[in-house]
Amino acid sequence: MKILVIGGGAREHALTWKLRESPSVERAWCMPGNAGIAALAECVAGNVGEVAKLAEIAQGLKPDLTIVGPEQPLVLGVAEEFEKRGLPMLGPTRAAARLEGSKVFAKEFMGRHGIPTAPLYGVFDDAGTAARALGRVNWPVVVKADGLCAGKGVLVTSLLDEARAFIERLVEKNEFGDAGRRVILEQALTGREISYIVLTDGEDFLPLAPARDYKRIFDGDAGPNTGGMGAISSDELVSGELEQLIQESIVRPTIGGLAHDGLRYVGFLYFGLMITDDGPKVLEFNCRLGDPETEALVMRMNFDLAVAAEATIAGTLARFRMVWRPAASASVVLASAGYPGKPQTGKRISGVPSVDSRRDVAVFHAATEVRDDIYYTSSGRVLTVAAAAGTLSEARLAAYDVANQIVFEGMQFRTDIGRESKQSART
Ligand code: AMP
Ligand code: GLY
Repeated sequence: MKILVIGGGAREHALTWKLRESPSVERAWCMPGNAGIAALAECVAGNVGEVAKLAEIAQGLKPDLTIVGPEQPLVLGVAEEFEKRGLPMLGPTRAAARLEGSKVFAKEFMGRHGIPTAPLYGVFDDAGTAARALGRVNWPVVVKADGLCAGKGVLVTSLLDEARAFIERLVEKNEFGDAGRRVILEQALTGREISYIVLTDGEDFLPLAPARDYKRIFDGDAGPNTGGMGAISSDELVSGELEQLIQESIVRPTIGGLAHDGLRYVGFLYFGLMITDDGPKVLEFNCRLGDPETEALVMRMNFDLAVAAEATIAGTLARFRMVWRPAASASVVLASAGYPGKPQTGKRISGVPSVDSRRDVAVFHAATEVRDDIYYTSSGRVLTVAAAAGTLSEARLAAYDVANQIVFEGMQFRTDIGRESKQSART
Protein backbone atom coordinates (compact mmCIF):
# COMPACT_ATOMS: atom_id res chain seq x y z
CA MET A 1 0.00 0.00 0.00
CA LYS A 2 1.00 3.57 -0.64
CA ILE A 3 -0.36 5.81 2.08
CA LEU A 4 -0.86 9.55 2.36
CA VAL A 5 -1.36 11.23 5.74
CA ILE A 6 -2.83 14.75 5.75
CA GLY A 7 -1.66 17.09 8.51
CA GLY A 8 1.58 18.14 10.10
CA GLY A 9 1.48 17.84 13.88
CA ALA A 10 2.50 15.31 16.51
CA ARG A 11 -0.72 13.36 15.89
CA GLU A 12 0.23 12.91 12.23
CA HIS A 13 3.81 12.02 13.21
CA ALA A 14 2.42 9.32 15.51
CA LEU A 15 0.10 8.02 12.77
CA THR A 16 2.91 7.93 10.23
CA TRP A 17 5.20 6.19 12.72
CA LYS A 18 2.59 3.49 13.31
CA LEU A 19 1.73 3.09 9.63
CA ARG A 20 5.42 2.81 8.77
CA GLU A 21 5.60 -0.32 10.94
CA SER A 22 3.12 -2.11 8.74
CA PRO A 23 4.64 -4.66 6.37
CA SER A 24 1.93 -3.76 3.88
CA VAL A 25 2.98 -0.10 3.62
CA GLU A 26 5.58 0.29 0.91
CA ARG A 27 5.52 4.07 0.59
CA ALA A 28 4.29 6.95 2.75
CA TRP A 29 3.72 10.65 2.11
CA CYS A 30 2.63 13.31 4.53
CA MET A 31 1.05 16.59 3.48
CA PRO A 32 2.48 18.94 4.67
CA GLY A 33 4.27 16.86 7.34
CA ASN A 34 7.00 18.34 9.54
CA ALA A 35 10.71 18.02 10.33
CA GLY A 36 10.15 14.90 12.44
CA ILE A 37 7.84 13.20 9.97
CA ALA A 38 10.41 13.80 7.22
CA ALA A 39 12.49 10.95 8.67
CA LEU A 40 9.63 8.50 8.00
CA ALA A 41 7.75 9.79 4.98
CA GLU A 42 8.12 12.08 2.01
CA CYS A 43 6.70 15.45 3.02
CA VAL A 44 4.66 17.10 0.28
CA ALA A 45 3.84 20.82 0.44
CA GLY A 46 0.14 21.56 0.76
CA ASN A 47 -2.25 23.71 2.74
CA VAL A 48 -4.81 21.74 4.77
CA GLY A 49 -7.28 24.61 4.29
CA GLU A 50 -7.34 24.18 0.49
CA VAL A 51 -9.01 20.86 -0.05
CA ALA A 52 -9.42 20.88 -3.83
CA LYS A 53 -5.72 21.61 -4.20
CA LEU A 54 -4.82 18.85 -1.73
CA ALA A 55 -6.84 16.40 -3.79
CA GLU A 56 -5.18 17.57 -7.01
CA ILE A 57 -1.73 17.03 -5.54
CA ALA A 58 -2.82 13.63 -4.22
CA GLN A 59 -4.05 12.68 -7.67
CA GLY A 60 -0.48 12.96 -8.88
CA LEU A 61 0.75 10.68 -6.09
CA LYS A 62 -2.05 8.09 -6.41
CA PRO A 63 -2.06 6.81 -2.82
CA ASP A 64 -4.03 3.62 -2.17
CA LEU A 65 -5.26 5.15 1.05
CA THR A 66 -5.37 8.60 2.63
CA ILE A 67 -5.83 9.29 6.34
CA VAL A 68 -6.76 12.79 7.52
CA GLY A 69 -5.48 14.03 10.88
CA PRO A 70 -7.01 17.48 11.47
CA GLU A 71 -10.66 18.56 11.38
CA GLN A 72 -10.40 21.54 9.07
CA PRO A 73 -10.00 19.70 5.74
CA LEU A 74 -12.80 17.28 6.68
CA VAL A 75 -15.16 20.08 7.59
CA LEU A 76 -14.25 21.74 4.27
CA GLY A 77 -15.10 18.59 2.30
CA VAL A 78 -11.76 16.93 1.57
CA ALA A 79 -13.49 13.51 1.52
CA GLU A 80 -15.71 14.53 -1.40
CA GLU A 81 -12.75 16.01 -3.29
CA PHE A 82 -10.89 12.72 -2.97
CA GLU A 83 -13.94 10.69 -3.85
CA LYS A 84 -14.48 12.73 -7.03
CA ARG A 85 -11.02 11.71 -8.12
CA GLY A 86 -11.44 8.07 -7.16
CA LEU A 87 -8.94 8.27 -4.30
CA PRO A 88 -9.79 6.07 -1.26
CA MET A 89 -9.99 8.14 1.90
CA LEU A 90 -10.50 7.46 5.58
CA GLY A 91 -12.56 10.40 6.73
CA PRO A 92 -16.20 11.51 6.89
CA THR A 93 -17.95 13.63 4.30
CA ARG A 94 -18.38 17.34 4.83
CA ALA A 95 -22.03 16.89 5.83
CA ALA A 96 -21.13 14.26 8.44
CA ALA A 97 -18.15 16.27 9.72
CA ARG A 98 -20.65 18.95 10.77
CA LEU A 99 -20.91 16.92 13.99
CA GLU A 100 -17.68 18.75 14.85
CA GLY A 101 -17.98 21.74 12.52
CA SER A 102 -21.22 23.05 14.02
CA LYS A 103 -22.12 22.64 17.67
CA VAL A 104 -25.69 23.72 16.86
CA PHE A 105 -25.91 20.91 14.32
CA ALA A 106 -24.45 18.46 16.87
CA LYS A 107 -26.98 19.53 19.52
CA GLU A 108 -29.88 19.13 17.09
CA PHE A 109 -28.55 15.76 15.98
CA MET A 110 -28.33 14.55 19.59
CA GLY A 111 -31.83 15.83 20.31
CA ARG A 112 -33.22 14.05 17.26
CA HIS A 113 -31.57 10.74 18.10
CA GLY A 114 -31.97 10.74 21.88
CA ILE A 115 -28.24 10.90 22.64
CA PRO A 116 -27.51 12.08 26.20
CA THR A 117 -25.86 15.52 26.35
CA ALA A 118 -25.96 18.67 28.48
CA PRO A 119 -29.36 20.40 28.52
CA LEU A 120 -29.46 23.30 26.06
CA TYR A 121 -30.62 26.77 27.16
CA GLY A 122 -30.66 28.19 23.68
CA VAL A 123 -28.95 29.14 20.41
CA PHE A 124 -28.32 32.84 19.78
CA ASP A 125 -27.01 35.02 16.98
CA ASP A 126 -27.54 38.23 18.85
CA ALA A 127 -25.40 39.22 21.85
CA GLY A 128 -28.16 41.14 23.61
CA THR A 129 -30.62 38.25 23.51
CA ALA A 130 -27.93 35.80 24.64
CA ALA A 131 -26.98 38.10 27.54
CA ARG A 132 -30.62 38.39 28.61
CA ALA A 133 -30.94 34.61 28.51
CA LEU A 134 -28.15 34.45 31.11
CA GLY A 135 -30.77 35.62 33.60
CA ARG A 136 -32.55 32.29 33.27
CA VAL A 137 -29.69 29.77 33.54
CA ASN A 138 -28.21 27.70 36.33
CA TRP A 139 -24.60 28.59 37.15
CA PRO A 140 -21.95 27.70 36.14
CA VAL A 141 -23.02 27.99 32.52
CA VAL A 142 -21.24 26.92 29.32
CA VAL A 143 -20.94 29.33 26.38
CA LYS A 144 -19.87 27.75 23.09
CA ALA A 145 -19.16 29.17 19.68
CA ASP A 146 -20.97 27.24 16.97
CA GLY A 147 -18.01 26.74 14.63
CA LEU A 148 -14.37 25.61 14.71
CA CYS A 149 -12.21 27.65 17.10
CA ALA A 150 -9.21 25.36 17.70
CA GLY A 151 -10.36 24.56 21.24
CA LYS A 152 -10.76 28.22 22.22
CA GLY A 153 -14.47 28.58 21.57
CA VAL A 154 -15.77 27.25 24.90
CA LEU A 155 -16.11 28.99 28.24
CA VAL A 156 -17.36 27.38 31.45
CA THR A 157 -17.98 30.12 34.00
CA SER A 158 -19.84 31.06 37.17
CA LEU A 159 -19.44 34.77 36.51
CA LEU A 160 -22.10 36.74 34.68
CA ASP A 161 -19.62 39.40 33.52
CA GLU A 162 -17.25 36.81 32.13
CA ALA A 163 -20.04 35.05 30.23
CA ARG A 164 -21.27 38.36 28.81
CA ALA A 165 -17.79 39.45 27.76
CA PHE A 166 -17.15 36.10 26.03
CA ILE A 167 -20.46 36.32 24.14
CA GLU A 168 -19.53 39.82 23.02
CA ARG A 169 -16.12 38.71 21.79
CA LEU A 170 -17.74 35.97 19.74
CA VAL A 171 -20.92 37.51 18.42
CA GLU A 172 -20.08 41.23 18.21
CA LYS A 173 -16.34 41.52 17.91
CA ASN A 174 -16.23 38.42 15.72
CA GLU A 175 -12.92 37.32 17.20
CA PHE A 176 -13.40 33.89 15.67
CA GLY A 177 -14.97 35.17 12.47
CA ASP A 178 -18.00 33.25 11.23
CA ALA A 179 -17.34 30.45 13.73
CA GLY A 180 -18.54 32.68 16.57
CA ARG A 181 -21.50 34.39 14.94
CA ARG A 182 -23.83 31.94 16.66
CA VAL A 183 -23.41 30.79 20.25
CA ILE A 184 -25.07 28.19 22.37
CA LEU A 185 -25.66 28.28 26.09
CA GLU A 186 -25.81 24.94 27.84
CA GLN A 187 -25.77 23.51 31.33
CA ALA A 188 -22.38 22.74 32.86
CA LEU A 189 -21.95 19.07 33.71
CA THR A 190 -19.71 17.68 36.41
CA GLY A 191 -17.89 14.38 36.44
CA ARG A 192 -14.78 12.98 34.79
CA GLU A 193 -13.95 13.48 31.15
CA ILE A 194 -13.09 10.63 28.80
CA SER A 195 -12.01 10.69 25.17
CA TYR A 196 -13.79 7.72 23.65
CA ILE A 197 -12.80 7.24 20.02
CA VAL A 198 -14.15 4.66 17.62
CA LEU A 199 -13.26 3.65 14.09
CA THR A 200 -16.38 3.16 11.97
CA ASP A 201 -17.22 2.13 8.43
CA GLY A 202 -20.66 3.68 8.82
CA GLU A 203 -22.27 0.48 10.00
CA ASP A 204 -19.96 -1.31 12.42
CA PHE A 205 -17.47 0.22 14.78
CA LEU A 206 -14.43 -0.76 16.80
CA PRO A 207 -13.56 1.27 19.89
CA LEU A 208 -10.01 2.39 20.51
CA ALA A 209 -8.65 2.05 24.04
CA PRO A 210 -10.14 4.77 26.26
CA ALA A 211 -8.12 7.92 26.76
CA ARG A 212 -8.12 11.22 28.57
CA ASP A 213 -6.47 14.48 27.66
CA TYR A 214 -5.18 17.28 29.84
CA LYS A 215 -6.38 20.54 28.38
CA ARG A 216 -5.12 23.18 30.82
CA ILE A 217 -1.61 24.57 30.62
CA PHE A 218 -0.56 24.05 34.26
CA ASP A 219 -0.43 21.18 36.73
CA GLY A 220 -3.61 20.51 38.65
CA ASP A 221 -5.72 21.67 35.69
CA ALA A 222 -4.91 25.32 36.34
CA GLY A 223 -4.53 28.14 33.83
CA PRO A 224 -5.99 28.59 30.37
CA ASN A 225 -7.07 25.88 27.93
CA THR A 226 -4.58 24.70 25.34
CA GLY A 227 -4.69 22.37 22.37
CA GLY A 228 -3.77 19.63 24.90
CA MET A 229 -0.73 19.25 27.19
CA GLY A 230 -0.73 15.49 27.47
CA ALA A 231 -2.89 12.41 27.50
CA ILE A 232 -3.16 8.98 28.98
CA SER A 233 -4.70 5.78 27.80
CA SER A 234 -5.54 3.10 30.29
CA ASP A 235 -8.02 0.26 30.43
CA GLU A 236 -8.75 1.37 33.98
CA LEU A 237 -10.31 4.60 32.75
CA VAL A 238 -13.52 2.82 31.81
CA SER A 239 -15.02 -0.29 33.45
CA GLY A 240 -16.62 -2.96 31.27
CA GLU A 241 -20.04 -1.92 32.49
CA LEU A 242 -19.49 1.74 31.72
CA GLU A 243 -18.10 0.89 28.30
CA GLN A 244 -21.23 -1.07 27.49
CA LEU A 245 -23.36 1.87 28.58
CA ILE A 246 -21.31 4.27 26.43
CA GLN A 247 -21.71 2.01 23.41
CA GLU A 248 -25.43 1.39 23.87
CA SER A 249 -26.55 4.88 24.86
CA ILE A 250 -24.15 6.96 22.77
CA VAL A 251 -22.05 5.22 20.11
CA ARG A 252 -24.74 3.03 18.50
CA PRO A 253 -27.40 5.77 18.41
CA THR A 254 -24.84 8.14 16.86
CA ILE A 255 -23.73 5.76 14.12
CA GLY A 256 -27.33 4.67 13.53
CA GLY A 257 -28.44 8.31 13.51
CA LEU A 258 -25.84 9.27 10.92
CA ALA A 259 -26.96 6.44 8.65
CA HIS A 260 -30.61 7.31 9.22
CA ASP A 261 -29.96 10.94 8.27
CA GLY A 262 -28.11 9.87 5.12
CA LEU A 263 -24.73 11.08 6.39
CA ARG A 264 -21.93 8.80 5.26
CA TYR A 265 -19.34 8.44 8.00
CA VAL A 266 -16.16 6.46 7.38
CA GLY A 267 -13.33 7.19 9.74
CA PHE A 268 -12.49 7.97 13.34
CA LEU A 269 -15.29 9.42 15.45
CA TYR A 270 -14.32 10.99 18.75
CA PHE A 271 -16.80 11.27 21.59
CA GLY A 272 -15.78 13.82 24.22
CA LEU A 273 -17.70 12.47 27.22
CA MET A 274 -18.48 13.60 30.72
CA ILE A 275 -19.11 10.66 33.03
CA THR A 276 -21.73 12.17 35.33
CA ASP A 277 -23.64 10.65 38.25
CA ASP A 278 -26.46 10.36 35.77
CA GLY A 279 -24.39 8.37 33.25
CA PRO A 280 -22.14 9.31 30.32
CA LYS A 281 -23.07 12.41 28.31
CA VAL A 282 -21.61 13.91 25.14
CA LEU A 283 -19.76 17.22 25.51
CA GLU A 284 -18.56 17.27 21.93
CA PHE A 285 -18.00 15.22 18.83
CA ASN A 286 -14.79 15.39 16.85
CA CYS A 287 -14.69 13.98 13.33
CA ARG A 288 -11.12 12.71 13.74
CA LEU A 289 -8.55 11.41 16.20
CA GLY A 290 -7.57 13.54 19.19
CA ASP A 291 -4.25 15.22 19.71
CA PRO A 292 -2.43 14.39 22.05
CA GLU A 293 -4.58 11.26 22.63
CA THR A 294 -3.30 9.70 19.39
CA GLU A 295 0.32 9.92 20.50
CA ALA A 296 -0.58 7.89 23.60
CA LEU A 297 -2.85 5.49 21.71
CA VAL A 298 -0.43 4.46 18.96
CA MET A 299 1.99 3.25 21.64
CA ARG A 300 -0.57 0.62 22.65
CA MET A 301 -1.65 -0.52 19.19
CA ASN A 302 -0.70 -4.14 18.68
CA PHE A 303 -2.38 -4.32 15.32
CA ASP A 304 -1.74 -3.14 11.81
CA LEU A 305 -3.26 0.33 11.50
CA ALA A 306 -2.92 0.35 7.72
CA VAL A 307 -4.91 -2.88 7.45
CA ALA A 308 -7.52 -1.52 9.88
CA ALA A 309 -7.90 1.60 7.74
CA GLU A 310 -8.16 -0.50 4.59
CA ALA A 311 -10.87 -2.69 6.16
CA THR A 312 -12.80 0.39 7.25
CA ILE A 313 -12.88 1.80 3.74
CA ALA A 314 -13.81 -1.62 2.34
CA GLY A 315 -16.71 -1.85 4.82
CA THR A 316 -15.32 -5.01 6.43
CA LEU A 317 -14.42 -3.59 9.81
CA ALA A 318 -16.61 -6.19 11.57
CA ARG A 319 -14.04 -8.85 10.68
CA PHE A 320 -11.04 -6.86 11.95
CA ARG A 321 -9.59 -7.37 15.44
CA MET A 322 -7.87 -4.58 17.31
CA VAL A 323 -5.43 -5.85 19.89
CA TRP A 324 -4.32 -3.37 22.54
CA ARG A 325 -1.13 -3.72 24.44
CA PRO A 326 -1.78 -3.86 28.20
CA ALA A 327 -2.17 -1.74 30.13
CA ALA A 328 -1.40 1.97 29.79
CA SER A 329 0.40 4.78 28.01
CA ALA A 330 1.05 8.46 28.51
CA SER A 331 1.97 11.38 26.29
CA VAL A 332 3.58 14.60 27.49
CA VAL A 333 3.62 17.76 25.37
CA LEU A 334 6.70 20.01 25.49
CA ALA A 335 5.60 23.55 24.73
CA SER A 336 7.28 26.89 24.08
CA ALA A 337 7.37 29.76 26.55
CA GLY A 338 4.33 31.96 26.04
CA TYR A 339 2.06 29.13 24.89
CA PRO A 340 -1.00 29.07 24.72
CA GLY A 341 -0.66 32.81 24.13
CA LYS A 342 2.04 34.04 21.80
CA PRO A 343 4.81 31.40 21.79
CA GLN A 344 8.53 32.21 21.62
CA THR A 345 10.00 30.27 18.73
CA GLY A 346 13.31 29.67 16.97
CA LYS A 347 14.90 28.11 20.07
CA ARG A 348 17.53 25.46 19.62
CA ILE A 349 16.44 22.02 20.84
CA SER A 350 18.96 19.64 22.36
CA GLY A 351 18.90 16.33 24.15
CA VAL A 352 16.34 14.57 21.95
CA PRO A 353 17.39 10.99 22.61
CA SER A 354 17.49 8.48 19.84
CA VAL A 355 14.60 6.17 20.62
CA ASP A 356 13.87 5.06 17.07
CA SER A 357 14.60 1.43 17.77
CA ARG A 358 12.46 1.19 20.89
CA ARG A 359 8.80 0.38 20.60
CA ASP A 360 7.78 1.52 24.07
CA VAL A 361 8.79 5.17 23.84
CA ALA A 362 8.77 7.71 21.04
CA VAL A 363 9.32 11.43 20.48
CA PHE A 364 6.83 12.96 18.05
CA HIS A 365 7.40 16.34 16.47
CA ALA A 366 4.67 18.96 16.31
CA ALA A 367 6.49 22.19 15.48
CA THR A 368 10.19 21.89 14.75
CA GLU A 369 12.46 23.06 11.98
CA VAL A 370 15.77 21.54 11.11
CA ARG A 371 18.83 23.51 9.98
CA ASP A 372 22.26 21.91 9.67
CA ASP A 373 21.03 18.85 11.53
CA ILE A 374 19.88 20.93 14.48
CA TYR A 375 16.22 21.20 15.49
CA TYR A 376 14.64 24.54 16.37
CA THR A 377 11.21 25.26 17.83
CA SER A 378 8.70 26.74 15.39
CA SER A 379 5.39 27.09 17.26
CA GLY A 380 3.60 26.56 20.58
CA ARG A 381 3.44 22.81 20.96
CA VAL A 382 6.87 21.56 19.93
CA LEU A 383 7.29 17.88 20.76
CA THR A 384 5.23 15.11 22.34
CA VAL A 385 6.96 12.30 24.23
CA ALA A 386 4.88 9.13 24.47
CA ALA A 387 5.47 5.85 26.26
CA ALA A 388 3.62 2.62 26.98
CA ALA A 389 4.15 0.21 29.86
CA GLY A 390 2.50 -2.43 32.00
CA THR A 391 1.14 0.18 34.40
CA LEU A 392 0.22 3.83 34.07
CA SER A 393 2.83 4.92 36.58
CA GLU A 394 5.55 3.11 34.63
CA ALA A 395 4.35 4.62 31.36
CA ARG A 396 4.33 8.03 32.97
CA LEU A 397 7.84 7.63 34.34
CA ALA A 398 9.16 6.41 31.00
CA ALA A 399 7.70 9.43 29.19
CA TYR A 400 9.03 11.87 31.79
CA ASP A 401 12.43 10.22 31.75
CA VAL A 402 12.79 11.16 28.07
CA ALA A 403 11.05 14.55 28.45
CA ASN A 404 13.55 15.51 31.15
CA GLN A 405 16.47 14.92 28.78
CA ILE A 406 15.14 17.40 26.23
CA VAL A 407 16.09 21.04 26.57
CA PHE A 408 15.11 24.27 24.86
CA GLU A 409 14.90 27.78 26.26
CA GLY A 410 11.57 28.43 28.00
CA MET A 411 10.35 24.84 27.61
CA GLN A 412 7.23 24.17 29.65
CA PHE A 413 5.38 20.94 30.31
CA ARG A 414 2.99 19.56 32.87
CA THR A 415 4.46 17.24 35.45
CA ASP A 416 1.21 15.56 36.50
CA ILE A 417 0.12 13.73 33.35
CA GLY A 418 -1.27 10.40 34.51
CA ARG A 419 -0.67 11.09 38.16
CA GLU A 420 -4.19 11.51 39.47
CA SER A 421 -5.80 8.64 37.67
CA LYS A 422 -5.90 6.37 40.74
CA GLN A 423 -8.56 8.51 42.44
CA SER A 424 -10.54 8.75 39.25
CA ALA A 425 -10.42 5.04 38.48
CA ARG A 426 -13.37 2.87 37.58
CA THR A 427 -16.86 4.28 37.67
P1 AMP B 1 -15.82 21.16 23.63
O1 AMP B 1 -14.99 21.89 22.59
O2 AMP B 1 -17.29 21.26 23.44
O3 AMP B 1 -15.33 19.81 23.95
O4 AMP B 1 -15.47 21.87 24.99
C1 AMP B 1 -14.14 21.93 25.44
C2 AMP B 1 -14.09 21.61 26.90
O5 AMP B 1 -14.99 22.43 27.61
C3 AMP B 1 -14.53 20.20 27.22
O6 AMP B 1 -13.51 19.26 27.07
C4 AMP B 1 -14.92 20.36 28.68
O7 AMP B 1 -13.78 20.37 29.51
C5 AMP B 1 -15.55 21.71 28.69
N1 AMP B 1 -17.01 21.58 28.49
C6 AMP B 1 -17.69 21.63 27.32
N2 AMP B 1 -19.02 21.47 27.53
C7 AMP B 1 -19.18 21.33 28.85
C8 AMP B 1 -20.32 21.13 29.70
N3 AMP B 1 -21.56 21.07 29.20
N4 AMP B 1 -20.10 21.03 31.02
C9 AMP B 1 -18.86 21.10 31.54
N5 AMP B 1 -17.75 21.28 30.80
C10 AMP B 1 -17.90 21.40 29.47
N1 GLY C 1 -7.46 16.47 22.53
C1 GLY C 1 -8.70 16.98 22.12
C2 GLY C 1 -8.82 17.17 20.67
O1 GLY C 1 -8.04 16.67 19.90
O2 GLY C 1 -9.77 17.84 20.26
